[in-house]
Amino acid sequence: MSDYVYNLLNKHHSVRRFKDQPLPDEDVKKLVEAGQAASTSSYLQTYSVIGIDDIEVKDSLKEVSGQPYVVKNGYLFVFVIDFYRHSLMDKEKREELQESFGSTENLLVGSIDVALVAQNMAATAEDMGYGIVYLGSLRNDVARVKEILDLPDYTFPLFGMAVGRPADDEQGTAKPRLPFEAVFHKNKYIHDADQHQALIRDYDQVVSSYYDQRTNGERTETWSNQVINFMSTKQRLDMLDELNKSGFIHK
Ligand SMILES: Cc1cc2nc3c(=O)[nH]c(=O)nc-3n(C[C@H](O)[C@H](O)[C@H](O)COP(=O)(O)O)c2cc1C
Repeated sequence: MSDYVYNLLNKHHSVRRFKDQPLPDEDVKKLVEAGQAASTSSYLQTYSVIGIDDIEVKDSLKEVSGQPYVVKNGYLFVFVIDFYRHSLMDKEKREELQESFGSTENLLVGSIDVALVAQNMAATAEDMGYGIVYLGSLRNDVARVKEILDLPDYTFPLFGMAVGRPADDEQGTAKPRLPFEAVFHKNKYIHDADQHQALIRDYDQVVSSYYDQRTNGERTETWSNQVINFMSTKQRLDMLDELNKSGFIHK
């Protein structure tokens, strides 16, 4: 057995500074094909990938995201839940189909399909020597992203991904993950709050020393600090409304 894929995946870290070196078309195609190889729920293939190399499109998306690496990268992908092509299939069944696209189950189906495609592409890109960073920041203004990319009904932009050769001085390293014991439950869920809290306390120390080391003491926050700071402010409260407008989660 080879540990090749295991080692590749464990080396992952997000890259946010790239060389000014566009991806060749054949690499873009290879990445999308790797994404297409992913399993999809019921073979529905409810996703599309928008590839972006046009600087004006990138600039507009950067206004939504606020993150410079939306422009400065080798290539930009936007991942879209896509039931549009399904909506074109059968005029007579259109009503039933539209009702189905609007179900909560099919929103999950589309989101899962998109995530699996994207992660296949991410791993393949890293294997090809590229760095990647996902861009949930595009959901800062879904309506604007839909407008920029001319997305039809029954589609929804979930996130982007910037890809490119890491800048020479890019020195990211793999961030420590929660310990195996914290995320793996054998046969049934472990509810023991003391056990969870003890694991989190230890992990907080690991994360704090990781930041301490990487920033020469400038940053020492724990994982719990990060989670609490992030989750105690309400995020993107327009999502349900935007999903409704795109034909998802019928009211
Ligand atoms: C769906 C998704 C959306 C993300 N959105 C952003 C983003 O908008 N900007 C960013 O800098 N990083 C983004 N990230 C990257 C995460 O911050 C990163 O994966 C996490 O901190 C773990 O770090 P690592 O990828 O280096 O291991 C996103 C990750 C995922 C999975």
